[in-house]
Amino acid sequence: MSNGDRAGAHHTAIASTYGARDPARADGHIDPRRFRDLLGHFATGVVAVTGYDPATGRPVGLAANSFTSVSLDPPLVGFCVAHTSSSWPLLRRSPGLAVSILGAGQEHVCRRLAAKGGDKFAGLETAWSPLGTPIMSGALAWIDCRVDAEHRAGDHAIVVARVLRLTPGDTTPEAAPLVFYRGAYGGFLPPA
Ligand SMILES: Cc1cc2nc3c(=O)[nH]c(=O)nc-3n(C[C@H](O)[C@H](O)[C@H](O)COP(=O)(O)O)c2cc1C
Repeated sequence: MSNGDRAGAHHTAIASTYGARDPARADGHIDPRRFRDLLGHFATGVVAVTGYDPATGRPVGLAANSFTSVSLDPPLVGFCVAHTSSSWPLLRRSPGLAVSILGAGQEHVCRRLAAKGGDKFAGLETAWSPLGTPIMSGALAWIDCRVDAEHRAGDHAIVVARVLRLTPGDTTPEAAPLVFYRGAYGGFLPPA
């Protein structure tokens, strides 16, 4: 078998595993479970998006790995929120939002903020951002922002937020991020 044949066989195997070979003939149906599993190979960091409910003054928040930088000028960040989120309708009314970039030791923070119902913040250490929004203590960095736009996208909303203030957290060389990969939590190994 030549290298070309091998590559062809490999592509055929991939195509039969993950979808149709010819995009024009694909019917567009992707099984959600397989979609999630495959996209899980894209390793991400994890953030806490927090704010407070102006009606009660209580902190609200959720964990998100869909966070990304969007624009440098103007400074914008983005993340996606499921329409099923019960925290987002409260969070989006918060006068300010804060993004806490979670560190390697903050898996418990992620798990708590990802839990549905109950007091997500009980037992978690919070502080105030420079602009007065609740943030998660011990994070690697914090970003004060406010919602700039929300775009409907399937079963999620793409939220674009204007960055208002940057606050560094742990800037030591030992600081490491919380990494989410294939449904599990891990860390980052710096090159030797
Ligand atoms: C690692 C991880 C990443 C997550 N990323 C997102 C995300 O990007 N967008 C989202 O809507 N929910 C995400 N979730 C789920 C939310 O954190 C949370 O579970 C969901 O909003 C339900 O809680 P709620 O009803 O209080 O909003 C993630 C959960 C985990 C554990």
